Amino acid sequence: MHCASSFFSVAADRISARDEARFFGLLKTANNTFKRTEPSRLVAIDAALITAMGRYDRPIHAALDLGISSGVTTLELLETLRAAGYDTQMTGTDRSVRARLVTLPFGCRALVEPNGHVLQYEVMGRAVRPWERRLDRWTGMTFVRKLVEGQLRKPAVAQAAAGQGTEVALISPRLRQNHAFQWLEDDITRRSAALIGRFDLVRAANLLNRHYFEPDVLRSAVANAIAYLSGPGAWLLVVRTHGAADHRGTLFRMREDGTLAIIERYGSGSEVEDLVMELGGG
Ligand SMILES: C[S@@+](CC[C@H](N)C(=O)[O-])C[C@H]1O[C@@H](n2cnc3c(N)ncnc32)[C@H](O)[C@@H]1O
Repeated sequence: MHCASSFFSVAADRISARDEARFFGLLKTANNTFKRTEPSRLVAIDAALITAMGRYDRPIHAALDLGISSGVTTLELLETLRAAGYDTQMTGTDRSVRARLVTLPFGCRALVEPNGHVLQYEVMGRAVRPWERRLDRWTGMTFVRKLVEGQLRKPAVAQAAAGQGTEVALISPRLRQNHAFQWLEDDITRRSAALIGRFDLVRAANLLNRHYFEPDVLRSAVANAIAYLSGPGAWLLVVRTHGAADHRGTLFRMREDGTLAIIERYGSGSEVEDLVMELGGG
């Protein structure tokens, strides 16, 4: 199940959360970040959100989760909403979702991002990481990787650039097959006309962080997240998790006049709370 070819060919109901964590945990993107999303990372915040929303009588028809990575926490939020009685359709976005699985000589394969970055090689049914772990020098993996990269990198990149192989979405199969979910490749720093005014709940978890974006870009990203809210009564949750479970976030709600009010803070609150209030006219 570590290889992309088996991971994407097995039925979603045969893949556990653990299988997903293992598979995505091996994928390091061109931005040097892992595709992995820690399971259960946001359950406490999900529960607090449901309690806060429960004080108001308003349906959540459409929710938007921004920067979903592999979508594990998106699936958890969707399941929590539905268990609480909300008939919600969830849209999940990330600036990079797609990759190509290409077939190479001698039964080898590679999983390649659209920018040509190889996420994984597959040799004789075994996954080979293109990135190095410290132990690799002692286990001989450094040598194996060099050999594999020398033989397979060029044809893998060329095939992917030519649109050969199969396109796959780097999202939890359990989420992808959920009928209440759709994904979209979208950059939060650029306004998307198709998303404006559509969502009763927008969540930005571990995305709108000051160290990720330049100040002007962060400003656009926050303004876009606000623009995607459906109107009075809609919710915006911005949260960042430090360590395993130190959540610092703020829950906002749109007033009748279209300005945002702070409803709750988690930990010391979101580091972009002031910016949200400035742009949300609160
Ligand atoms: C740390 S992960 C957060 C995953 C999930 N929201 C969570 O908290 O568990 C950040 C994600 O944001 C995505 N991302 C970074 N910049 C982005 C942008 N400008 N627009 C959309 N997604 C972006 C990355 O690709 C990555 O998947």
